[in-house]
This record gives sequence, C-alpha cells and structure tokens, in this order.
Amino acid sequence: MRALILGGIADANVLAVEIARAGIDAVYSYGGRTRAPADQPLPTRSGGFGGVSGLADTIRRDGITHVIDATHPFAVEMSRNAIEACAQTGTPLIALERAPWTKAPGDSWIDAADVDAAAAALSEAPANVFLAIGRQHIAPFASRPQHAYTLRFVDPPEGALPFAADVIVSRGPFTLDGELEMLRARKIAWIVARNSGGDGARAKIDAARLLGLPVIMISRPELPERPRVESVTEVMQWLGHRTCLGA
Ligand SMILES: NC(=O)c1ccc[n+]([C@@H]2O[C@H](COP(=O)([O-])OP(=O)(O)OC[C@H]3O[C@@H](n4cnc5c(N)ncnc54)[C@H](OP(=O)(O)O)[C@@H]3O)[C@@H](O)[C@H]2O)c1
Repeated sequence: MRALILGGIADANVLAVEIARAGIDAVYSYGGRTRAPADQPLPTRSGGFGGVSGLADTIRRDGITHVIDATHPFAVEMSRNAIEACAQTGTPLIALERAPWTKAPGDSWIDAADVDAAAAALSEAPANVFLAIGRQHIAPFASRPQHAYTLRFVDPPEGALPFAADVIVSRGPFTLDGELEMLRARKIAWIVARNSGGDGARAKIDAARLLGLPVIMISRPELPERPRVESVTEVMQWLGHRTCLGA
C-alpha cells in the first residue's frame, strides 16, 4: 500500500499524523501556494502534477495504491483531476471533506453561486466589507470600488492587489472572541465568505450572527460524484486501519 494525500485543509494534517502513526507508506502533496506550509510527519512533494496525465503518471511511477483528496472544497481543478486520473489508473480515491455549513437561527445569509454573484450582491451604499476569500478570487470586487475592504491572507500578498484594501496576514484557526474583536474594531458591515465547512474557519460566521451582520455566502462548486467521508477516522477505516480519534 502507498497512499497519496492531496493536502490543503487542516484535516489533511491530522490525517498525515494518523497515517504516519499507523506506519502506512504515504506521500503528502502540497499545492505549493503557501510559503511556509505546516511540517508533515510524512515525505512531502509540492506543486502541480501537470494536469490529469501528470497525476496519472505520478500514480503509476510512484506505485500509488490509494489517493486521498484532502484539498479545499473550492480547489475543484485538483479534485476533478484526481477523479479522472484515478479512473484512468484504476486507483481507489476518497475525498475527505467536511459538510458545508448550514444556516442557524439568527444567521443572515445571502447565497451567491460564485464570486461574481457575491460582488454583485453587495449594497450600493459604501460599507466596510470583510472579504474572507482567497487572494486569487478577489478581482471581481474591483468593480465595487465604493466599499472599504479588509482582506485576510496566510502570506503577505506578492505584487499589487486589484484594488486598495487593508490586509491582515494571519494563518488561523480563528477564535470567536478574536473574530468579534476584529469585526467590531474595523466596523465591518458585510462579510463575504465561501462555504468551506469545518471548524477552523467557522468563527467568523458565528461572530457575524452574534453581531447581526449579513454574510454573502458563496456556495461550493459542483463536482462529479466521488466517494466522500467527513472524518479522518473514516479515511483510516477506508485504508484498513483503526485510529484513537473520536470523529
Ligand atoms: N481554493 C481555496 O480557496 C483554497 C483554500 C485553502 C487551501 N487551498 C489549497 O491550496 C491549494 C491550491 O488551491 P487552488 O484553489 O489553486 O486549487 P485548484 O484550482 O483546484 O488547483 C489548481 C492546480 O494546482 C495544483 N494543485 C492544487 N492542489 C494541489 C495539491 N494538493 N498537490 C499538488 N498540486 C496541487 C494542480 O496542478 P496540476 O494540474 O499541475 O496538477 C491543480 O490543477 C490546494 O492544495 C488547496 O487545497 C485552497
């Protein structure tokens, strides 16, 4: 057995620890976007494989027997490539993906199908807006220049942004108290977020509810059907191992 973890979410790091602990031969693949990614207890590689054919070649060359897609739910290109390359090579694939967040009483969400729809959903009146989306997705908000934007990235942005904005550089996870303080201090009136699910990014959504702020929530992109689980424990079971983790 030789597993390939396509990393990207916090649970991928938890999974790497469990796989290392179980003594399973595995490689952890970083997308290569983050300058100082978390250390792993497994051999790592970084950066694209070269599309479907590149990933299929890697699977064959490196004797990969199991692929675990633990990329971010919005990293759809990698996920589509994994589905296709695993189908071509006959390699079992599983996706580790937390369920999307669902509205709780008191939430004020405006659903948006994509980033363009989210930019269009902002008010006409100037407002302080927290864009909780990745650097590569912010360009459509240049068309709404009346707003004052706060952005938050893991790394300082390289090069000019498409519009003026305050940038917070922080890796998270973020606490409810910390998010409340940040939203209050910046007098944020709107939040734009992607429905990532999971606990690591949830605090801003809970804070928005407590402060009565509207959230423009971008839905997850559609992916072809694939086997999918929500916990590291289930991935370990799929690999034929038990863990001492609760969920
Ligand atoms: N999109 C987000 O909001 C977000 C948020 C947090 C973390 N991330 C993580 O950041 C990375 C890039 O995200 P993205 O949205 O740019 O992804 P993407 O659009 O789905 O992927 C673009 C290309 O990047 C390469 N790639 C992505 N993830 C990879 C991985 N784990 N290992 C090796 N190559 C990978 C692949 O290149 P080739 O085609 O050349 O193989 C893929 O086709 C992913 O690992 C993702 O999980 C993304």
